[in-house]
Amino acid sequence: MKIFLDSANLGEVQTAAGWGVISGVTTNPTLLARAGAKDFQAVVAEICRLVPGGPISAEVVSSDTAGMVQEARELADIDPQVVIKIPVTPAGLAAVKQLAAEGIRTNVTLVFSTAQAILAAAAGATFVSPFVGRLDDIGQDGLGLVQEIVTVMDTYDYSTEVIAASIRHPQHVVGAALAGAHIATVPFKVLGQLFEHPLTAQGIERFQADWEALQGNK
Ligand code: G3P
Repeated sequence: MKIFLDSANLGEVQTAAGWGVISGVTTNPTLLARAGAKDFQAVVAEICRLVPGGPISAEVVSSDTAGMVQEARELADIDPQVVIKIPVTPAGLAAVKQLAAEGIRTNVTLVFSTAQAILAAAAGATFVSPFVGRLDDIGQDGLGLVQEIVTVMDTYDYSTEVIAASIRHPQHVVGAALAGAHIATVPFKVLGQLFEHPLTAQGIERFQADWEALQGNK
């Protein structure tokens, strides 16, 4: 499973890229607003530079197909790495179909059911993003949805890749991997938490202390 960073904060992207573990980035209008990214296109271009070669998702905000396609073409012009995030609506999937024909990659977002994922794959989505945490928030099984979608994509040999999104904690990342997700897109805080284990910290401290004691004994 690949790890993407779910962030539009350039500092976070730079740090996470430096850790060597991310191979793409996903953004959305909320994340861009949170990052204060007024020059949205410049931020997307900079993220592409920081994560070379990786798919970088940028979301359209129009609600009609023509508007989405227009926005998508402008976003795709920023860099070939840009993938267009489109909500799973009839207008959105019509845009996905058109963009696929133009060779522009898409990430169908706000997916909360397997039925929606099947439609996204049928329209030619490159990626489909089930929202794990938001489903858990309303008492449903987010990781169960990921597993179901992966099973359908595998059974019918769809090329659409599954991105487990709306990740809230490290166990979601592990669960997404066990469910067979191709990718988990992870917020910066959770990415940092993935490194942590008390025995790792204790072990480093102990090795350090023993090494220093050895130097002192020379
Ligand atoms: O980018 C889509 C998704 O990851 C959003 O997550 O935390 O707003 O539910 P969240």
